[in-house]
Amino acid sequence: MLAVAVLAAGRGTRMKSTLPKVLHSLAGQSLVERILHSATTVEPSRRFVIVGYGSEQVKQALAHLPDLEFVEQRQQLGTGHAVQQVIPHLEGFQGDLLVLNGDVPLLRPETLENFVHQHQAHQNAATVLTAQIPEPSGYGRVFCNEQNIVTEIVEDRDCTVAQKQNRRINAGIYCFSWPQLAIALPQIKADNDQQEYYLPDVVKLLSPVMAIDVEDSKEIQGINNRKQLAEAAVVLQDRIKDYWLAAGVTLVDPRSITIDETVELAPDVVIEPQTHLRGQTTVGSGSRIGPGSLIENSQIAADVAVLYSVVSDSTVAAQTRIGPYAHLRGQAVVGAGCRIGNFVELKKAKVGDRTNIAHLSYIGDATLGDQVNVGAGTITANYDGYQKHHTKIGDRTKTGSNSVFVAPITIGAAVTVGAGSVVTKDVPDDCLVVARAKQTVIPDWKPKHLRQDQTN
Ligand code: UD1
Ligand code: CA
Repeated sequence: MLAVAVLAAGRGTRMKSTLPKVLHSLAGQSLVERILHSATTVEPSRRFVIVGYGSEQVKQALAHLPDLEFVEQRQQLGTGHAVQQVIPHLEGFQGDLLVLNGDVPLLRPETLENFVHQHQAHQNAATVLTAQIPEPSGYGRVFCNEQNIVTEIVEDRDCTVAQKQNRRINAGIYCFSWPQLAIALPQIKADNDQQEYYLPDVVKLLSPVMAIDVEDSKEIQGINNRKQLAEAAVVLQDRIKDYWLAAGVTLVDPRSITIDETVELAPDVVIEPQTHLRGQTTVGSGSRIGPGSLIENSQIAADVAVLYSVVSDSTVAAQTRIGPYAHLRGQAVVGAGCRIGNFVELKKAKVGDRTNIAHLSYIGDATLGDQVNVGAGTITANYDGYQKHHTKIGDRTKTGSNSVFVAPITIGAAVTVGAGSVVTKDVPDDCLVVARAKQTVIPDWKPKHLRQDQTN
């Protein structure tokens, strides 16, 4: 039996943020969500999250995850004190407790799985994940004998000059035999520089405690400040990009691209420079995204091109070309073989197949049929100052340049709309509609001051 406790009660003072540290985001997921995710493969029977600073915010951010047990640490008196808070919840529990610092977001699930396996195979009282790194400053130092049996962990600030030379660091990931930890925890003291109850102090009270070095020390980078957050983002981006490159995606200038871990890409997708793919985004085979595009929570089908454009919360069907400089948002749904061109904004618009909206348009709260040609500068006037209204335009209709549709309005199929029309009433199928002032031509006209017959 295995329970997991994630320590997420600290403020993270060094982040200089009002947001609790564990809610800072890396590639679309908060630090605490990441660490919880890395613990899914060990299949814990219970999952505790210790919350304190900003506890309501942290609980809310994790509300979508099932079966979490939140334990309040009212005062943040240290990592040992944090784990003490689960004692009443684990009375009589005979299994192991995996303790994870909430600010170690890059751990791979396989690493944790192997770590727990080693702990159980050796029947340790405790096992500590460690790493030997060139720049250990800031981390607790782990002192071991030759058999990797831990004698002591000393925090960086409490180390003597000689102790600081030790490059073996505590990753903040531990597995404990719970019955033994439950006895040791109440005995730790706050006799250190910070006057906090340090979880690593329990190692002096338990036996045997084994250190296990992580294979890739990048995985255990802790996040205490914005610089470390930025560094971790790079590590994560490299990992995500390596994955997609191996899966048959072309990334042109990968360093200028960011991809959230939640994104799904098909083989033969090409991502051009300065492009960012975020949230629940999928891109189909043969599509070319970028340069200079942002796609968020959107489904892009196969063989689509998106050039210098922003697509949020929208769906684009196959072989459609978007951009340059288009903006799709608010559940825009664009059909196949369409062209959405320069300076076109689509908001909550459903567009049929092979429809073109090529220049300078705002189409909001609208349904357009197939093979519609939307002339340059066509606008749906969807807002009367109080409410949004719908515009419907039928198949094969052509709207003249600079036409305005004052919603609510329905334009039939195969309608031709004269340029510059302000259309306020519904139009049936197969009509020509012109709604503009008739052109007036006055022959032989001159401005008043140039007229011959002018008096005085
Ligand atoms: C901790 C370890 C250090 C280790 C490092 C690895 C201790 C005393 N030190 O140091 O040996 O090398 O992690 O990254 O444990 N937290 C609480 N309640 C508290 C205090 C902290 O829940 O009262 C949580 C924080 O939200 C954070 C985690 O515990 O997620 C670690 O706390 P932090 O202050 O970042 O510890 P470090 O100084 O990094
Ligand atoms: Ca930390």
